[in-house]
Amino acid sequence: MTAPAPRPSLRPASPNFSSGPCAKRPGWSLDQLKDAALGRSHRSKIGKTKLADVLQRSRKLLNLPADYRIGIVPASDTGAVEMALWSLLGSRPVELLAWESFGQDWVTDVVKQLKLPDAKVTTAGYGKLPDLAKVDFTRDVVFLWNGTTSGVRVPDGSWIPDDREGLTICDATSAAFAMDLPWHKLDVVTWSWQKVLGGEGAHGMLVLSPRAVARLESTTPAWPLPKIFRMTKGGKIDEAIFKGDTINTPSMLAVEDAIDGLKWAESVGGVAGLIKRSEANLSAIARWVAQTDWVDFLAEEPKTRSCTSICLKIVDPWFIALSEDAQAEAAKKLASLLEGEKVAFDIAAYRSAPAGLRIWGGATVENADIAALLPWLDWAYAQVKQQDSAQAA
Ligand SMILES: Cc1ncc(COP(=O)(O)O)c(C=O)c1O
Repeated sequence: MTAPAPRPSLRPASPNFSSGPCAKRPGWSLDQLKDAALGRSHRSKIGKTKLADVLQRSRKLLNLPADYRIGIVPASDTGAVEMALWSLLGSRPVELLAWESFGQDWVTDVVKQLKLPDAKVTTAGYGKLPDLAKVDFTRDVVFLWNGTTSGVRVPDGSWIPDDREGLTICDATSAAFAMDLPWHKLDVVTWSWQKVLGGEGAHGMLVLSPRAVARLESTTPAWPLPKIFRMTKGGKIDEAIFKGDTINTPSMLAVEDAIDGLKWAESVGGVAGLIKRSEANLSAIARWVAQTDWVDFLAEEPKTRSCTSICLKIVDPWFIALSEDAQAEAAKKLASLLEGEKVAFDIAAYRSAPAGLRIWGGATVENADIAALLPWLDWAYAQVKQQDSAQAA
């Protein structure tokens, strides 16, 4: 039995719990962007200074090794990942790890588009991780630090050897600024602005280790590379990209907003402060899950539970007995009831993930808003269940 849940009186101050674009930082307003270099060339002195500011602040906050490159690239996280796959893969076999839908997307790219003959695909179902101890690091390895659509993250980098032969290519878009990334274990890291720091979509961030740069300079892909993927000039890394000379035109409004997000990150104690905020959000949800009988984490292993894309499954016998379509329908109703009440926007599970809820717990989400949301989840769930039982009677 699900306990009757009273209608809560307190609403979250912000109902924005989407997993991307994610909530703006506390206190954000459009006024903060008044110094944007609007109407100016991104190659002007002021434009380049702002782009370099994004790179420098990101580098410092993330504590990147001095010999790693960081650049702003086109087409958000997808652009950054695809640029890496198309530019770096092919000279040695590759292993792709996939445990949810974005990891599957990179499998599709490598197997069906690049058609690499020696691609090993290692998968696990929603809620699980593949056996990381079996990953073959004589190959290049492509993986996500955090599976945004299943809420399953790798617990740490201990499974990645320091003396690996292949490159590690890590899509960290829902992990950067929220989880500790062991840079010396990672050769390529990507993310976008609209996740943990609550920036705007369209721009990707790409970090390259010296080994990744050496690969770029020593091999030439067997396929044509469009301009927006090209990172070398005359066989050498194009250093300008990593100094703020972007390949094509960025939005200077989005750049200003990214700087605002980075300054806010500095003000809350840097990455340690951001991680603390995100982990506190996960803890609040974990405490509620522990005392709530209708819900559980989709991630089976506690140490793999994401502190950003917090994915929940419904474990109530009434729900489990429903057909897959009816489950999807009920979960959708739950999310739209909460949306209608303006207490939570965009928290339905990802379209190809098991029916349930996905609540963003990244640093821009206030812990008080998570606390205010939880009683509403109980209330809405009881409503949906009651309506279904009334219809069935
Ligand atoms: C792990 C992961 N990879 C890729 C993407 C796609 O990112 P973008 O829309 O920034 O290209 C997302 C978006 O949520 C993601 O979570």
